[in-house]
Amino acid sequence: MIHVARRMQRLGTETAFEILAKARALEAKGKEIIHLEIGEPDFDTPANIKTAAKRALDDGFTHYGPAAGLPQARKAIADYISRTRSITVNPENVVVTPGAKPIMFFVILACIDEGDEVIYPNPGFPIYESAIDFVGGTPVPLPLREENEFRVDIDDVKKLITPRTRMIILNSPQNPTGGILMEEDIRAIAEIALENNLLVLSDEIYDRIMYDAHKPFSIASVPGMQDRTIILDGFSKTYAMTGWRLGYGVMPVELANLVTKLQINSTSCTSSFSQMAAIEALQGPREDVERMISQFNERRDLIVNGFNAIEGFRCHKPHGAFYVFPNISGTGKTSRQLADILLNEAGVACLSGTAFGKYGEGYLRFSYANSLENIEKALERIAKVLKGQPAVPETVK
Ligand SMILES: Cc1ncc(COP(=O)(O)O)c(C=O)c1O
Repeated sequence: MIHVARRMQRLGTETAFEILAKARALEAKGKEIIHLEIGEPDFDTPANIKTAAKRALDDGFTHYGPAAGLPQARKAIADYISRTRSITVNPENVVVTPGAKPIMFFVILACIDEGDEVIYPNPGFPIYESAIDFVGGTPVPLPLREENEFRVDIDDVKKLITPRTRMIILNSPQNPTGGILMEEDIRAIAEIALENNLLVLSDEIYDRIMYDAHKPFSIASVPGMQDRTIILDGFSKTYAMTGWRLGYGVMPVELANLVTKLQINSTSCTSSFSQMAAIEALQGPREDVERMISQFNERRDLIVNGFNAIEGFRCHKPHGAFYVFPNISGTGKTSRQLADILLNEAGVACLSGTAFGKYGEGYLRFSYANSLENIEKALERIAKVLKGQPAVPETVK
């Protein structure tokens, strides 16, 4: 028997990967599954970015690079963040990581002591709670409510602050709800952070994917906040680069040095040719990104209207990311029960709202990063299963 360290009991997981495995197992048995569970664009990485990576391979970017990132990549990221957030960021503020996820883990490891409280959105990306728990911190869930369009209620934040509160995590646009924070919400949270000497981990990975003329606003842009904010961002979602493992954090230099030290102790550095492609992503043409976002927009309308026409479902219209989080309490099923039924009987893979925390009960998360045709088919199948009719043609069962 392997002795397992006690801390492993405190480590959570991301259910999306487990459901994907379950769905693949059903596919292996011949069942046709529509994948609406995984949070990644279905588009291919834009050709100019792939070309830049190929060129970088030919140019010899196949070796270890500096732990914090290649200087030219850190510079391109610093310029991009300075431009898009209206602040001054230097390359020394940037740490490039294999995906944006390590920034969460590294920053929490570097800043949170045992017993420190961290306020985080719930429902929210499950790794926040997992990482806080793992380092011995106290996760303090901040409820996001449907009736408030899944925005943060500022009074809730105020009520959750204690002398032990060290950090607040924000995520806008948000996974899993697609909700966004308005500039007034962000300014109010900044005021609380300044008053209570809090760090803010601002997960802005979906900030380019917004609809209805909404514009992103970073808490780092509020005067006085840049010194206490860690911006988490990356290439996975905006540029359809999930498999490249390419993300970064922007933070005060003192913390960037500590995060770099954690990188030296774990991954060493981010792949060098990926970082050369990152420069092209930030500086090259943006037509592909814009096309992708306009297609997401069309799919959002289809899925929101489709769910609102299904009895037992009620679906808000999110302003960002590529997720919807319909309320399914009218079906009389729990989130887990319904997610299982939809996978097994409708061949539609989605996630239970509870995969994103306790306040996710009564909801399901669907990613609409899939074709209009597949979304339409999924909606039809779900409607049939809920009416007790067979949904998947016998031939593919
Ligand atoms: C809110 C949020 N932050 C961060 C990440 C991680 O991104 P990456 O794949 O770049 O590690 C995800 C991925 O699903 C996410 O949804």
